[in-house]
Amino acid sequence: MAGKKQATGNGAKMIPIYIMGKKYEVPETLTILTAMEYAGYRHIRGCGCRGGICGACATVYRLSGEYGLKFGLACQTVVAPDMYLAQIPFVPANKAIYDIEKLTPDINSIGRVYPDLYRCLACNTCSKACPMGISVMDYVQALLKGDIAGCARLSHSCTMCGICALRCPAELQQFHMAMLARRLYGRYLQPRARHLEKRVKQIKEGKFDPMMDEIMSLNNHELKQRYARREWEPESYENPDWRPEETKYLVLD
Ligand code: SF4
Ligand code: SF4
Ligand code: FES
Repeated sequence: MAGKKQATGNGAKMIPIYIMGKKYEVPETLTILTAMEYAGYRHIRGCGCRGGICGACATVYRLSGEYGLKFGLACQTVVAPDMYLAQIPFVPANKAIYDIEKLTPDINSIGRVYPDLYRCLACNTCSKACPMGISVMDYVQALLKGDIAGCARLSHSCTMCGICALRCPAELQQFHMAMLARRLYGRYLQPRARHLEKRVKQIKEGKFDPMMDEIMSLNNHELKQRYARREWEPESYENPDWRPEETKYLVLD
């Protein structure tokens, strides 16, 4: 059911869908998100990036003749005939407050902040519901083993849509736990990026101030032109000796 968001397109076949119980005829080429807008809905909540990244558009639906509930991102799921839709503007889930500086990167921290972790039944319902195809149960199990790096890696493409939590019979907040794991990994376990530290130091020293001053002085049109004309840096393996043609503000290490 996942597919690319498409334009309405002249001559697209019209199909019936049901939004909150009301029937609408919409072009079959639309995603759930654009079909709802076509039907007259205006998204104030439940819509963000429109590109499958932010997770704001989690949607529950049923298909005609099928018993089971289905889940998807509205901006990535193409409508189908007789689709019954209910959007979830947010998923209520316990989000713990913690100070990352006072935590250690191990199971004790995660278990203290999210004790619900130990309730996991290993039923795999969460993985089946995830619209990003993430093995949610595997990252939860990695956490249970204290494998913070494994959880961070397995949950990397999580959009925080919350559908896994919605489906979990043990009422875990998997996505918040995984976020904590990624934060702990980034704060304590990941090797430091020395080049980034060097760049931040250069920024603090004001080495980029003249460039920023010039950019801030441009109007909208000039900014757009500058953006359109920008040089593209190639992948480093393609040309390790690459240097930009525009060197006015180039800051070398
Ligand atoms: S749905 Fe809940 S209980 Fe089942 S595997 Fe996932 S986290 Fe564990
Ligand atoms: S892991 Fe959960 S919150 Fe993250 S994308 Fe999958 S279903 Fe959504
Ligand atoms: S609007 Fe951001 S994932 Fe759909």
